[in-house]
Amino acid sequence: MGASVRIALEDVSYSYGRGALRKQVLFDIATRIEGGEIVILTGPSGSGKTTLLTLIGALRSAQEGSVRVLGHELLNARTKALIKVRRQIGYIFQSHNLLSSLTVGQNVRMALQLSGTRHREKKGRVASVLERVGLSEHEHKFPDQLSGGQKQRAGIARALVNRPQIVLADEPTASLDKKAGRDVVELIEELAREDGSAVILVTHDNRILDVADRILHIEDGHMKSMSEVVSEGTSRMLNLLEKHDPNAANYLATFAFALARIAYVDGVIHEDERAEMRRILMEVALLTEAEVDFIMEMSMMQGRARARIDNRIVNPAFDEERTEHFLASLHAIAQADGITTSEELIEIDTIAAEFGLTRPRDPRMN
Ligand SMILES: Nc1ncnc2c1ncn2[C@@H]1O[C@H](COP(=O)(O)OP(=O)(O)OP(=O)(O)O)[C@@H](O)[C@H]1O
Ligand SMILES: [Mg+2]
Repeated sequence: MGASVRIALEDVSYSYGRGALRKQVLFDIATRIEGGEIVILTGPSGSGKTTLLTLIGALRSAQEGSVRVLGHELLNARTKALIKVRRQIGYIFQSHNLLSSLTVGQNVRMALQLSGTRHREKKGRVASVLERVGLSEHEHKFPDQLSGGQKQRAGIARALVNRPQIVLADEPTASLDKKAGRDVVELIEELAREDGSAVILVTHDNRILDVADRILHIEDGHMKSMSEVVSEGTSRMLNLLEKHDPNAANYLATFAFALARIAYVDGVIHEDERAEMRRILMEVALLTEAEVDFIMEMSMMQGRARARIDNRIVNPAFDEERTEHFLASLHAIAQADGITTSEELIEIDTIAAEFGLTRPRDPRMN
């Protein structure tokens, strides 16, 4: 196992219950996750995400296969070893799990009690982690006095104060509105990147998939590869488009992917880029809002995975009008956040070259 591999799963299966009530919920799961990697775990309700997370987090004993976490084999491990592993993991749950009788500062400090940190150092660590999550001014407040997003931030501070090598987050945004959810995920991402932690984040929220380095998908306890998920999604999308206008399907699919690629040039898809994509897609295709959202999600996943899969099977015919609109739209996405960077211009040129399009007169506005 390479030095930076924090989590290595092989043939992991798991069942609840015994005898006639026994029910297998995980089947031969395998993956490896390195330090600094952010992995999003998705899948329908009941597919086994939380079960898998609790196995990795040493919160439940492994039954079959190999679960290696921070160099320890958890299969048949003694309680002492499980506890040792647990102390090196930061857990973030759907509900923040703060103790309501303690202040924010005390809640965070509690996580340090077990780590043998000295008094003076503890104070500094609590203050600095609260500053990192933007809660310095709220240190002496009780959880009841905070908003949902602030409580979740306090939960993150508590999970990260020990600088864990692994962060496990189970639907940390479920109780938050869209904006607060996005902020929380970006915060986890930022902190994890700074600390080089390995992160597994369970979510149902497709809008935050772009934060991930890798997306793992579970269905009925079986792990599916990203390309399986994307190709299923892509064919679903093409069927959807076919319904509306068979001739436009290829064009629109390519178009949406190209927009997502420009939005993704800087490694994240911003809200304004998302809004601009939605606007353009609504304008071009006579689709419902839900269908546009679906296409956008798939395009973003594809944009993320494009290094690994060939998405150039579709090569629509570009007439002059389409060429101009296509390139103008790419520029509009690049411009969505207020500035067009040279990286975005290079990506536009690359896409244009891939489709054999020459760039017309500079379509950039303002
Ligand atoms: N303690 C338990 N005892 C028996 N069955 C359980 C237990 N916990 C979960 N299960 C079952 O195991 C399966 C997987 O559950 P799990 O909680 O891992 O799913 P999940 O993917 O996290 O779902 P959700 O998205 O709804 O949180 C489900 O069929 C669930 O009913
Ligand atoms: Mg769950």
